[in-house]
Amino acid sequence: MHQPSVTQAAMRSFSQATDPRLGQVMALLVKHLHAFVVESKLTKQEWLCGLEFLTQSANITDSERNEFSLLSDILGISSIVDVVSQPEGGTSSSVLGPFHNHDSLVRPNGVNLSGDQPGQKTWLHGRVLDAQGQPIAYAEIDFWQNADNGLYPAQDPLQDPHNLRCKILCEADGSFNLLTLRPHPYTVPTDGPVGALLAASQRNIWRPAHFHVIVSAPGYVGLVTELFPADSAYIDNDTVFGVREGLIVPLLPSHNLEVAKRYGIEMPFLEMNFDFHLVRQIASPA
Ligand code: BEZ
Ligand code: FE
Repeated sequence: MHQPSVTQAAMRSFSQATDPRLGQVMALLVKHLHAFVVESKLTKQEWLCGLEFLTQSANITDSERNEFSLLSDILGISSIVDVVSQPEGGTSSSVLGPFHNHDSLVRPNGVNLSGDQPGQKTWLHGRVLDAQGQPIAYAEIDFWQNADNGLYPAQDPLQDPHNLRCKILCEADGSFNLLTLRPHPYTVPTDGPVGALLAASQRNIWRPAHFHVIVSAPGYVGLVTELFPADSAYIDNDTVFGVREGLIVPLLPSHNLEVAKRYGIEMPFLEMNFDFHLVRQIASPA
């Protein structure tokens, strides 16, 4: 059999899939993977090396650590899936990353997450609006970030597991605010096969500083995104390609006396203001 007929036969082999979308996606995957093999003139040895890479990724993957997600991230696939599945009119989405926890505690709007740990106090505030700029009442914000040492609680046994993360319910006018710390750039995990690939490719391993946010409200498409302080290192060179223009936000010194008094903090502190825009869910046909 010649290559074109192998490709056609392999594509056709999915034509009876019980879910037609599965059949379509698998046929296209086969088509593009075969084209890649042909165009790159992949050798047997290179193919075996690729299989070994996947085997090592499987060996290091468990419930706490997923090397395949990281591979998807550093190949830009997670980002491109975000971009193509993004509904029009809303805030851009960005990668979820491996450090999200479903069990964050609901804290009051205005919560002080920073406590007395080291770091630059940062007041994050804004509103949750619809695509037309009208407030959405009582949206939920799920927030997490790294500490002043650049680590998430999952990487740092000295941190409380709930450090610098929470859920809050916004007000009826869509507003939210919380006191936190300046986030910091950090490297993606490099102790597995993906790290070896990044090293062999002489690639940057850093992500710019960011806040992670998931915004949700009934009737609206949920938004998984990140906010990037404009002055962060690596803002133009995120190893997982998560930065979007609309998500780069100034982090500026603030002399807001009312806020300083409310939290008992010194001025100037840092302030970031950002409004999230959610897009209405399209009602599915009955
Ligand atoms: C993060 O933002 O925490 C992250 C995202 C992708 C890969 C690794 C870390
Ligand atoms: Fe992160």
